[in-house]
Amino acid sequence: MITYKPPMPYPLVICVSLFLVSSLLQPFCTTTTAQTYKNVSKGDFLIAGQRDSSSFWASPSGEFAFGFQAIRNAGFLLAIWFNKIPARTIVWWANGTELLAPAGSKVQLTADGQLVLLKGTTGEKIWQAEPSDNRVFVSHAAMLDTGSFVLATAGSEYLWETFTSPTDTLLPSQTMVQRTTLVARHGETNYSDGRFTFTLQGDGNLVAYAKHTALDSVMDYYWASSTNNATKLIFNTSGSIYLEVMDGSIINVLPSNAVSMQDFYHRGILEYDGAFRHYVYPKSTSSAAGRPMAWTCLSAVPPNICRLYPPDRGLGPCGFNSYCSYQDQKSSCHCPEGFSFIDPNDRSRGCQQNFVSQSCTEPSSDTDKETDRFYFYDIPNGDWHLNDYEWIHNVTEDFCRRNCLADCFCGAATYTNGDCHKKMLPLSNGRTESGVYGITMVKTRKARNSTLQPPGGYPKSENKDLSTLIIIGAVLLGSSVFLNIFSLQVMAVRFVKRKRRNIQPLVLPGMDLQCFTYEEIKIVTDEFKEEIGSGSFGRVFKGFLASGVGNYVAVKTFNSMVAEREQEFNAEVSAIGRTNHRNLIKLIGFCNEKQHRLLVYEFMSNGSLSNFLFGDSRINWYDRIQIALEIARGLLYLHEGCSTPIIHCDIKPQNILLDDSFTAKISDFGLAKLLKIEQSRTMTGIRGTKGYVAPEWFRSKPITIKVDVYSYGILFLEIICSRKCFDTEAEDEHKMVLADWAYDCYVERKLDQLMKDDKEAMEYLERVEKYVKIAIWCIQENPAQRPPMDRVIQMIEGSIEVPIPPDPSSS
Ligand SMILES: *[C@@H]1O[C@H](CO)[C@@H](O)[C@H](O)[C@H]1NC(C)=O
Ligand SMILES: *[C@@H]1O[C@H](CO)[C@@H](O)[C@H](O)[C@H]1NC(C)=O
Ligand SMILES: *[C@@H]1O[C@H](CO)[C@@H](O)[C@H](O)[C@H]1NC(C)=O
Ligand SMILES: *[C@@H]1O[C@H](CO)[C@@H](O)[C@H](O)[C@H]1NC(C)=O
Ligand SMILES: *[C@@H]1O[C@H](CO)[C@@H](O)[C@H](O)[C@H]1NC(C)=O
Ligand SMILES: *[C@@H]1O[C@H](CO)[C@@H](O)[C@H](O)[C@H]1NC(C)=O
Ligand SMILES: *[C@@H]1O[C@H](CO)[C@@H](O)[C@H](O)[C@H]1NC(C)=O
Repeated sequence: MITYKPPMPYPLVICVSLFLVSSLLQPFCTTTTAQTYKNVSKGDFLIAGQRDSSSFWASPSGEFAFGFQAIRNAGFLLAIWFNKIPARTIVWWANGTELLAPAGSKVQLTADGQLVLLKGTTGEKIWQAEPSDNRVFVSHAAMLDTGSFVLATAGSEYLWETFTSPTDTLLPSQTMVQRTTLVARHGETNYSDGRFTFTLQGDGNLVAYAKHTALDSVMDYYWASSTNNATKLIFNTSGSIYLEVMDGSIINVLPSNAVSMQDFYHRGILEYDGAFRHYVYPKSTSSAAGRPMAWTCLSAVPPNICRLYPPDRGLGPCGFNSYCSYQDQKSSCHCPEGFSFIDPNDRSRGCQQNFVSQSCTEPSSDTDKETDRFYFYDIPNGDWHLNDYEWIHNVTEDFCRRNCLADCFCGAATYTNGDCHKKMLPLSNGRTESGVYGITMVKTRKARNSTLQPPGGYPKSENKDLSTLIIIGAVLLGSSVFLNIFSLQVMAVRFVKRKRRNIQPLVLPGMDLQCFTYEEIKIVTDEFKEEIGSGSFGRVFKGFLASGVGNYVAVKTFNSMVAEREQEFNAEVSAIGRTNHRNLIKLIGFCNEKQHRLLVYEFMSNGSLSNFLFGDSRINWYDRIQIALEIARGLLYLHEGCSTPIIHCDIKPQNILLDDSFTAKISDFGLAKLLKIEQSRTMTGIRGTKGYVAPEWFRSKPITIKVDVYSYGILFLEIICSRKCFDTEAEDEHKMVLADWAYDCYVERKLDQLMKDDKEAMEYLERVEKYVKIAIWCIQENPAQRPPMDRVIQMIEGSIEVPIPPDPSSS
């Protein structure tokens, strides 16, 4: 009974437009009613791009279909697919001289019994079924319910079957004899040949090979059944996949399973990542028995394809510089930070480096070291197996990091139990697997682009900060003596006022500070055009300086001026000017002209740390700890590196700025020395907010450098947790004050709760505990119990043990 009516041969134009219509309609047309063809007679054909059912021949049950499938908008694949599931999963395709045929192409069982695929535009033959015996006549073709499409004789003997020339898939009842090969496709929807094959060899061994990247013909094996006597690979009708041995006994390839053949579709496929997997799909929601209406993987060989290491150093499933992770029996490829996929649509091609490699020649300047421009992207439990060029045994992780950072050949390193393995680029065969390895760190250049930079570029103080107001107010007391000291020199030197961007301000002798006139400041800031920050103390403007350190500067203005104590102010500005440390903001100059008093600082392109702790773009765990360490070094310098100790008094994330290579620099220091006189006034109004302020401010106790250690402790907790020290929106009251909550978590050994939003840090809970302990030491109520900054640094660096801290409020 043949109900098929050949369509009229359409002119090309119509076919093309139909193709467009069909691809537009496709998502809504999943229930096209297929005519069921028991037999395909000679002369019957299908046209690619037909909208109606005549684009495929279905099996009697309707479960399988043979015909054309549109592949994206690239063309049509002559294929067999599961026809009753929305995914239309392809199980076989014709690998012609052209894989994808244009719309209007035709597959036909010709009058002389040949199955041919003719290209739409030209009628050129691009594929043909090749029966093993050409002398016997084909009488008809049929799409069978097993999923095999056959050419048969009048006596229903099969002369050619898709089951005997498989592509990448095996179906139940299909058998692979010796010298048959499955070839993986290139990608999920790219049916070109991929890199992996499975062959039942003539020697009775079932072997998986990976194609070498350089030479198509060279293959590395990565899995084998290690049998020498298998005659067939069988996918039997109860869903078992096994090798049959000469004497009829069987060797399982995949574990047996009990998923019913009545209720589920089964398929075994050599996937594009190199694993052979057994999948099932429920035939109906009622038969799903709890499984999702999707293909789920029952088992796979090799069990974890990310562990694939071809013996000849070829590639596994992921390309160079990428790494493989395995989850829910699926592999996926990832790029480390600083790298991106060469082709986002084909992740197996690997990742390219997005930054300029480390130079091996160090510039002479000590402040701008090439090494400092790099950091590590940490991949916990990661490994790149094949790239080691140097092993260092029995060292600390910190040594390993510093050593690789300083070595321009080192692209990455792994650290496990005292062993540091340094690696070269390109990295190959990387993977992550929980619990197996140590840490992998991949070197990346810091200079990140705008996606990481907060808007603005300089801290915008959100809160009115009374302490800043008064401290600075006190600092900028009148300055007529100051003016007198320098005005002579100012007048003595003739300098020509030039247009903007071409200013050469006077440089004060004996000090690295420049003295600007107000006129010059106006030029530098283009009439105070770009405000980049403000607070109750005053405002900050961006400026441009043609000469001197860097081109951009931050100009600080002050609201209130008190015309007294000019001596102290002068001393203070020159004290600030004398500081020189890479973790302190550099004061470039000042303006002191009548009522105009301004400070000119180097400009920090990345703004304040608070943007990166609490904003959208966060800094990774290791970098955060580095920043904490840098702040500690800057503080140590203020406390002990200057002729008289400088107490900062206002350590908080808004006062930590980041330069373009994310080096932390403390700002606003040196403005507080006058506090000794002002302290009673200063702190009114701050009481009640548990912030960064040490408790002794509220009690009439002496103010020492230990107030900074306290603030540092609070800041360190914020850095560890990427959370504000006081969070009124915390879901629980006891989580509101970070210091209290962190201490509770530490005591109850529940630090994982503190860090639960930070997947990266969760991998390092032991260190989290160490750092939290250090922070708790810093926030002891009794200033004498707080460690000095040099001890804090030693504890963070790990050169001394961190003792168990007491309850901060115990004394
Ligand atoms: C598919 O066809 C191409 C081109 O004709 C050929 O190179 C390739 O080996 C074929 N693949 C298989 C699995 O037969
Ligand atoms: C298919 O054709 C063959 C020979 O022409 C015939 O013997 C067979 O019965 C047909 N099968 C069906 C299901 O029509
Ligand atoms: C499929 O992959 C091959 C090999 O990389 C590539 O040449 C081809 O363009 C890809 N085809 C499609 C349709 O993306
Ligand atoms: C086939 O080979 C396997 C593995 O080499 C061996 O365990 C098994 O006994 C062999 N069977 C026969 C019948 O030779
Ligand atoms: C398929 O193989 C399994 C074990 O390998 C066996 O238990 C089952 O009976 C077989 N089913 C059929 C239909 O042969
Ligand atoms: C590792 O280094 C430590 C200290 O430097 C030393 O005491 C220890 O013996 C070393 N261990 C090995 C196995 O070399
Ligand atoms: C920033 O980096 C991302 C990813 O690395 C890139 O897509 C983007 O184009 C870059 N932006 C600029 C301004 O360079």
